[in-house]
Amino acid sequence: MTAAAAGSHGGNEPMTRYRIVAIPGDGVGPDVVAAARRVIDLAGERFGFTVEWHEIVAGGAGIDAYGVPLRDEDLDACREADAVLLGALGGPRWDDPRAAVRPEQGLLALRRGLGLFANLRPVTVFPEAAGASPLRPELLEGVDMLIIRELTGGLYYGRPSEERATSDGREAVDTLSYSEAEIRRVVELAFELARGRRRQVTSVDKANILSTSRLWRSIAEEIGARHPDIALEHRLVDSCAMVLVTRPASFDVIVTENMFGDILSDEASVLAGSLGMLPSASLGERRTAHGLHGLFEPVHGSAPDIAGQDRANPIGTILSGAMLLRWSLGQVEAADAVEAAVRAALADGHSTPDLGGGDGTASMAEAIAQRLGSRATAPSGARA
Ligand code: IPM
Ligand code: MG
Repeated sequence: MTAAAAGSHGGNEPMTRYRIVAIPGDGVGPDVVAAARRVIDLAGERFGFTVEWHEIVAGGAGIDAYGVPLRDEDLDACREADAVLLGALGGPRWDDPRAAVRPEQGLLALRRGLGLFANLRPVTVFPEAAGASPLRPELLEGVDMLIIRELTGGLYYGRPSEERATSDGREAVDTLSYSEAEIRRVVELAFELARGRRRQVTSVDKANILSTSRLWRSIAEEIGARHPDIALEHRLVDSCAMVLVTRPASFDVIVTENMFGDILSDEASVLAGSLGMLPSASLGERRTAHGLHGLFEPVHGSAPDIAGQDRANPIGTILSGAMLLRWSLGQVEAADAVEAAVRAALADGHSTPDLGGGDGTASMAEAIAQRLGSRATAPSGARA
């Protein structure tokens, strides 16, 4: 094959081309997604790939445009892409509890529709951001944990989930159920990922009260027995909430069900100095030609009070972009380079308002982009 036929861009290697769906969404979503796109595009220039972006409208913006938070054809587009980068969905404009359509339904439909059962939320403390944490600095030393939240089961999806009238007034019900298979696949993943880290898994449940937690615990035990090289501890969720702020450095991998993971990961963000720092990756079983198909989004919400003001911290989304490069595109060096660039920008004094600094969203993204190494200069070995 000739170089031209291979689609070469001047060199001998054909330029790899990826397709990513961007869902800016609501509130600060568009601000932080634009910032992360800039960094990913520049990483492509440095590391020899290009990204074809396909933007879709979803969440509250979707309700405004189409009357639904996520159209079927847009879910299909997400499925066909190599990965999805999402900003944030939701906001007070669509918060009426009596409304039949809500932005968050779009997120739940994406997670389930794409089979993304595992939500990885790494919590890293960058020294420059630690000062923004209300916790004493000595507690934050050595904090490096990965929270793995089950994402497509439990209370978020259980049926029935409704309010109904009874002769004694209204009552409401939500359903918490987990199948063995749902528990097994996410706990297995926790053990696999712990092997590349400090080999310690904390399985979090409420086994003294809940049947689902007792099933969860027995499956974790069984999987633990098959991985004797990994230390397994069980911890009740209330106790875990306490230890997260008293001895946070004691955790390596935490694996837990959907609702517990939602709550504990917001709590853990306090360790990082700001919710704006935390990235996430939602992954399933499906592989593309390049890696695992996934959805990548910051842990923070839509922060409507600062939307469109160039005030949001883009680091959570940029680090989500690094996870996208690593997990879905197989661009490990580029992912390492993005993470190193975030460190370098912070070390050079760049800081957003949530961290007490004066950089806007765009200037923080630019500071990070300017510090991106290239194939020849990138350090390796870092990981999220
Ligand atoms: C999160 C968010 C979502 C969740 C909301 C926006 C539905 O809090 O991703 O943690 O509860 O899963
Ligand atoms: Mg949450």
